[in-house]
Amino acid sequence: MRKVHLITFGCQMNKLDSELAAETLADAGHIVVDDESLADTVVFNTCSVRDHAEQRVLSRLASLKPRRLADPDFRLGIMGCFAERYGEELLRKLPHLDFALGTRQFLRLPEVLERLDREASAKPEKAGHFGPAGAESPGIHQSHPRARHQGIQGFVSVMRGCDNRCSYCIVPDVRGGEVSRPAEEIAAEVRALALAGAREVTLLGQNIDAYGKHDNSSLAALLRLIDTTAGPDTGLVRLRFVTSHPRDISRELVETVRDLDRVAAHFHMPAQSGSTPILAAMRRGYTREEYDDKLAMIREVLPHAGIVSDFIVGFPGETEADYLATRDLVEKAHFTTSYIFKYSPRPGTPSALTMRDDVPDSEKKRRNNDLLAVQSTVSSTRGATLIGRRFSVLAEGESNRNARRWTGRTEQNMICVFDAPPEGDTWRGRLVEVEVESATPLTLFCRVVGNDAQEQPED
Ligand code: SAH
Ligand code: SF4
Ligand code: F3S
Repeated sequence: MRKVHLITFGCQMNKLDSELAAETLADAGHIVVDDESLADTVVFNTCSVRDHAEQRVLSRLASLKPRRLADPDFRLGIMGCFAERYGEELLRKLPHLDFALGTRQFLRLPEVLERLDREASAKPEKAGHFGPAGAESPGIHQSHPRARHQGIQGFVSVMRGCDNRCSYCIVPDVRGGEVSRPAEEIAAEVRALALAGAREVTLLGQNIDAYGKHDNSSLAALLRLIDTTAGPDTGLVRLRFVTSHPRDISRELVETVRDLDRVAAHFHMPAQSGSTPILAAMRRGYTREEYDDKLAMIREVLPHAGIVSDFIVGFPGETEADYLATRDLVEKAHFTTSYIFKYSPRPGTPSALTMRDDVPDSEKKRRNNDLLAVQSTVSSTRGATLIGRRFSVLAEGESNRNARRWTGRTEQNMICVFDAPPEGDTWRGRLVEVEVESATPLTLFCRVVGNDAQEQPED
């Protein structure tokens, strides 16, 4: 039995994978510990999306090297995208690393830990498993037991991998091609999570609008199935999904979101750039005009939807005019928020192989800061228009900054801060009705006008 501490970098898919890894370890009799100093095994779940993400993993690994070298019983391992990307090479180059498991192999964690312990008296072989799961490997695409889930938010992967080949992106290399899971299994997993206490479940896929494209299904059909089979009798309040590709998001999907009360009016639809030539060089598969049309379609069907975007600034060849087109998009689109990244060439990707990283870092920084400032102004203006408006907020718990205040999120995924419930009461996991009193770019400050316990008195 080992005491394992998991450290997670990267996106929500990685956070989910860490949760599944923890569940698998616990099933095999190991203990997952929150405190690193109590652990005899540390596993990093890693990200490769930008150089910075890889550097952070390497420096954290280096910081544990002395402990690994001093204690023969201590195990150090990595899983996730960085592990998949460098595979055996990592094990060769980092002598203090005991094992590395790729993105479709991490459910082998217990097997690997047990093997290393069995062989400990001899000189154990380092363990590495990468690439698509073989016939006898644990079923990464199958349903996962979720009985141990804690917390009111849960995540379920509906598909893994990505068939797009955006020229800058490492994800298809490290996560493989798209594989959608069967709808019934997903619905059963959502149901299990809700029965274990999750009130909000987020469905995850790198390009979630492509769900089911290989077998004539669709994300809209999946949402309807989950809504009817995992919603009514489980306490599930909200269903979300990320990430939407602007090319694939359909009117049918947006209408389904409008028609199903439980599905939150929130879209993460990364534009990446507002300039058509740059979008072409990125191989995104849409023009600026087509992106604008998708935005207009969402606003028409669901005027109160929250829309969030990602942007990459300083892509190879991005001129000032291209950047200004991105700036123009951010000024006009009224995103709830935008995640902005400086282009980071990923070795082996088409843009790194064929284009020179020709925008100087100082210029990338300037564009990054400028775009952040534009989005912040947009968010402030938007926040001001919300004063006096009412929202249903899924209450999460005490605010980190002030124990007398609570936080939660609106359907649009905006953070709300409101007065704590009376002593001895808890609103955790309940819908609280609030009215906005003031707003900053990222937070709404509200007063409570009701909660679902008041609206539905017990009889
Ligand atoms: N599947 C999602 C996003 C995956 S990666 C999608 O298709 O949008 C998350 C974000 O990281 C991307 O939206 C992009 O903005 C950013 N990103 C990806 N590769 C990058 C790179 N090489 N340099 C900088 N940012 C990058
Ligand atoms: Fe990467 Fe593009 Fe796939 Fe998103 S859609 S994961 S950016 S290749
Ligand atoms: Fe990073 Fe892998 Fe997610 S590269 S962003 S952890 S899919």
